[in-house]
Amino acid sequence: MRSRQVFLTAATLALIVVAGCSEPVSAQGTQAPDIRTPPAVEDTTPALETFDVSPFESPEGVKLDVPYVPTPYPVVNAMLEMGQVDKADYHMDLGSGDGRIAVEAGKRGARAFGVDINPVRVAEAEKNARDAGVSDRVTFARQDLFQTPIKDATVLTMYLLPEVNLKLRPRILDELKPGTRVVSHAFTMGDWVPDETREVEGAQLMLWIVPAKVAGTWTLAGAGGGALQLHQTYQQITGSLGGKPIREPLLQGDRIQFVADTPQGPRLFAGRVAGNAVTPAEPIRPAAGVTAASAWRLTRAG
Ligand SMILES: C[S@@+](CC[C@H](N)C(=O)[O-])C[C@H]1O[C@@H](n2cnc3c(N)ncnc32)[C@H](O)[C@@H]1O
Repeated sequence: MRSRQVFLTAATLALIVVAGCSEPVSAQGTQAPDIRTPPAVEDTTPALETFDVSPFESPEGVKLDVPYVPTPYPVVNAMLEMGQVDKADYHMDLGSGDGRIAVEAGKRGARAFGVDINPVRVAEAEKNARDAGVSDRVTFARQDLFQTPIKDATVLTMYLLPEVNLKLRPRILDELKPGTRVVSHAFTMGDWVPDETREVEGAQLMLWIVPAKVAGTWTLAGAGGGALQLHQTYQQITGSLGGKPIREPLLQGDRIQFVADTPQGPRLFAGRVAGNAVTPAEPIRPAAGVTAASAWRLTRAG
């Protein structure tokens, strides 16, 4: 996108990014107000000025992969709620604008880090963090989001464009720890189905929980033993134990569960994935009427 001719009107922007990309969605079936659908001309927010002049170049002449449009505060708060941000978290906002999402995360006690390629936005964000009294734990850097290490984040927020989300997706799946929450304002992540969606003030919000990588052949020790075959598409799994399909499979971060037939009858296997081992843990969701398997372990050849 960086190489695109940047002197575009907002209306042109709305058209050029459509091909091959996910659309912003809204529950009403109409387009939500977002960075692809700029606000109406009567809207006098500062974001509109930026947007009208040159969507892919800031008024200061900084080349942008995404134009600056701030997320409204009720939407910010909903994003942080979906990400369940609290003091245990390290939150990152990629393309942090005036820093509002990171600052609000800081108010919830989290450590937060925002990166923006526009130094004007970074200066605003730093001032906003100081004014909110959170600059001890909320910091910003002028940085290209594509060059930003993300592996330490426990929550990632994004208000970017679909193609930017898609470019980030392999890194999100490979670099972030299983269980990391990723919240996007308005735009999808291709065919990766969100774990939760919400609509707030016309904005569609999506949450993904980074899944552990569980595909492959596992050996079950205990509970009757056998070979467990797992197939995975993001957080969706299917599989079989001893050749018989598993039922009610769930994968959420590093937690997995399924029901499988054992010599003792149907059993619930609920565990935690750590690399090539799964050991018993609390279920994500109770499986009504099914006894939990006891004293078992799964291992996968590395
Ligand atoms: C739609 S705004 C979102 C701002 C903020 N996250 C929010 O939701 O209020 C996108 C931001 O991404 C920044 N940006 C664009 N390209 C970037 C890049 N390659 N690296 C870092 N930031 C970038 C823009 O300067 C802008 O502030």
